[in-house]
Amino acid sequence: MYWKELSKKEIKRRVFKALNSNINYDQETLIGVPASYLDRMHFYTDLPILKEAPYLLTMINNPNHIGCHTLTKDKSEEYFQGTQQLEIELIELLATQVFKAQPDSTDGYIAPGGTEANIQAQWIYRNYFQEKHGALPHEIGVLYTEDAHYSMPKGANLLGLPAIVIKTKAEDHKIDLEDLRIQLTRAAEKGIKYLAVTLNMATTIFGSVDEIDPVDSILNEFLFEYKIHIDAAFGGFIYPFTNPNNTLNFAHPSVNSITIDGHKMLQAPYGTGIFLIRKGWMNYTTSNAAKYVSGLDSTLCGSRSGANAIAMWMILKGYGSEGWTNYCNELIARTDHLCKALDDLGLLYCREKHMNIVTISAENFPVHLADKFHLVGDDKENPSWYKVVVMPHVTLEILDRFINKLRLEVWVNE
Ligand SMILES: Cc1ncc(COP(=O)(O)O)c(C=O)c1O
Repeated sequence: MYWKELSKKEIKRRVFKALNSNINYDQETLIGVPASYLDRMHFYTDLPILKEAPYLLTMINNPNHIGCHTLTKDKSEEYFQGTQQLEIELIELLATQVFKAQPDSTDGYIAPGGTEANIQAQWIYRNYFQEKHGALPHEIGVLYTEDAHYSMPKGANLLGLPAIVIKTKAEDHKIDLEDLRIQLTRAAEKGIKYLAVTLNMATTIFGSVDEIDPVDSILNEFLFEYKIHIDAAFGGFIYPFTNPNNTLNFAHPSVNSITIDGHKMLQAPYGTGIFLIRKGWMNYTTSNAAKYVSGLDSTLCGSRSGANAIAMWMILKGYGSEGWTNYCNELIARTDHLCKALDDLGLLYCREKHMNIVTISAENFPVHLADKFHLVGDDKENPSWYKVVVMPHVTLEILDRFINKLRLEVWVNE
């Protein structure tokens, strides 16, 4: 994995150049473009700060990145080709450098979030099974674990497909392979023939990461045709950097698509989900009815702000691969520090060792400390677990304050 770090000056130069290649509403006569010129009473185009702020200027210029530009390239909307090129560069960087794809072998787009990216994958696979095999909805199962994000059942519900939910193991919250076999047997008995499978690169609550090879070989014991999607919404911007030899990427022949989320670990603004898929698949959701859009549209969302792609492009280029790896390793060191203290206190917790999520059993855990430090419970009303996510603002000093308070409570109760 390698990409070069760019200086702030160079980042500014590249983004401004991209914006200059987009259409300029103030300088050209456009009376039919289906795009939004921001309200001039409330959005100021003449603030001096905009000359120094490429992301803010992109928001003000408001490019619409509708469509999938890795797929349609220069046939996408010509008005915004400058910033679309940076989106294409971003998708290629993530696919090849972070998720080990061969150059130019991946399509993708910036989605509003991980939810859409996960549903986009289910939608593509449903259409593929229907188009290629004439599959009926009840023959296409959507398979995920009980710890998977709620976008899984949401997608199954929207698409009218049966859900197959696999248990996870109590000790590490990874997929339970015995239960997988049981559920697959039941699914086959019910007439399911095709599967859209999602594995996790870090579940929302436990940060657990599934292993693909055992799942793949069990799936192969059956007669299903299946496609594997990786939900790396939580883990995608940390796990590949802290565990570079992991196999949840395009170097694995069974991985077909991946979700990542910039608005989690990457600290990008909301609206920065990412969908990646091998080439040859996006067309299963191309809407031919989108005839007024150059290059048509294959995404679930339609119009979307180009500023979101620019934000992630800027962050990744600003750090470079080395800088981002160091950033991730620093978070892992702080997470290790917290786990060591929990071990010393004999508290039960769950943690995937290359992740920055620590999920502590709520049993005997002081509720007032969970409230004071704003830990997130797995269930707001009745938590069994409380989660800590070690982000840059979770400093060693804050962790020590938390640990010291916890230590006092444990001693008093001993
Ligand atoms: C593992 C996982 N997948 C998907 C999502 C959905 O992401 P979003 O809220 O961006 O739609 C989340 C959100 O927390 C998540 O943790």
